[in-house]
Amino acid sequence: MDIASNDDHPLRRLTLDQLRRRTSMKWRTHPDDVLPLWVAEMDVPLAAPVARALTEAIAIGDTGYPAGTAYAEALADFARERWGWDGLAVERASIVPDVMLGVVEMLRLVTGPGDPVIVNCPVYPPFYQFVTHMDRRVVEAPFGPGLRLDLAALEEAFARSTDDGGRAAYLLCSPHNPTGTVHTAEELSAVAALAGTYGVRVVVDEIHAPLVTAEAAFVPYLSVPGGESGLSLMSASKAWNLAGLKAALALAGPAAADDLARMPEEVGHGPSHLGVIAHTAALREGGRWLDAVLNDLAENRRLLAALLAEQLPAIAYEPGPGTYLAWLDCRKLGLGDDPAAAFLARGRVALSAGSDFGTGGDGHARLNLATTPEVLTEAVRRMAKAVG
Ligand SMILES: Cc1ncc(COP(=O)(O)O)c(C=O)c1O
Repeated sequence: MDIASNDDHPLRRLTLDQLRRRTSMKWRTHPDDVLPLWVAEMDVPLAAPVARALTEAIAIGDTGYPAGTAYAEALADFARERWGWDGLAVERASIVPDVMLGVVEMLRLVTGPGDPVIVNCPVYPPFYQFVTHMDRRVVEAPFGPGLRLDLAALEEAFARSTDDGGRAAYLLCSPHNPTGTVHTAEELSAVAALAGTYGVRVVVDEIHAPLVTAEAAFVPYLSVPGGESGLSLMSASKAWNLAGLKAALALAGPAAADDLARMPEEVGHGPSHLGVIAHTAALREGGRWLDAVLNDLAENRRLLAALLAEQLPAIAYEPGPGTYLAWLDCRKLGLGDDPAAAFLARGRVALSAGSDFGTGGDGHARLNLATTPEVLTEAVRRMAKAVG
């Protein structure tokens, strides 16, 4: 394939046969008769500037250890241009192997074993797995009506988590996986105020941020009043489909600089040099490609809503502008707690099981709509047939 023209409709360029040659988790977990719309990989060719940067690195054997601040500088410029945020300071940024390992390291900086980590459920299942694995305790603050932050529930969780005078952290997902909810500046400011009141440290996973549509307006947590003591994780991984090229950035607000400085030096040895090269090229030169992906995703959201309304009207779907994941409320279908299991067994479509996303997930399924319109259309046809 001619990589120079990948800017044109990235989500319409690959056939199923081409995609099935991939050996990543999305394509190798299920047999070939299953349409995989589960794990957060996109069915796109690599952005041309990223492919070029990697090809050049391979050509000169530039496959050693990462060095320098190019990734952070590229993200600082991207943040200024896309989000109007001037506050990303390269001296308060550190490379980490990936976002989840970065989350673990940030939580380690501000909590100890056994301490509570508050999350908003339903939420990305590794939030439970990683937090538990590092010997912290997950405390759930469920989302409120309209799949938005419930500040009263959050305050209750903050109060409950700190009433023994111990340390607590809040792991915020912004924008939110699986609902695609984009938190507003008002909501984030209220979060920061609450965190200040209760002495809860905020660690925010902003991996999906570049995928937020311009109209929905992503607000970096570190940019809101009170966000100065926050720690954030950002990456080009989701927006440019680079999960296999490990790298991410940990960022500290001005009042958290001393915390980030305590991160052990060896954590920075984890990212891949090729990952850093790829992520830097994506942020510096991948804007056109990203815009093309965002256009395709907007069309896919409309397509999915129309297909569901027509063929599976019992499913409630509120398109979220913050990511390429669709959170499907299937409770009216009568498929029990795990509708994804029924869609897989009877329809040969793999979705993510809602129950893995914590309280509020039962009866739901998460669908990854970052695929071609043909695959999306066929998936909904199969899902409808499975319940018909
Ligand atoms: C909210 C969220 N955080 C983290 C990750 C994983 O990122 P990484 O591979 O950089 O750990 C994902 C992947 O889908 C995600 O959705």
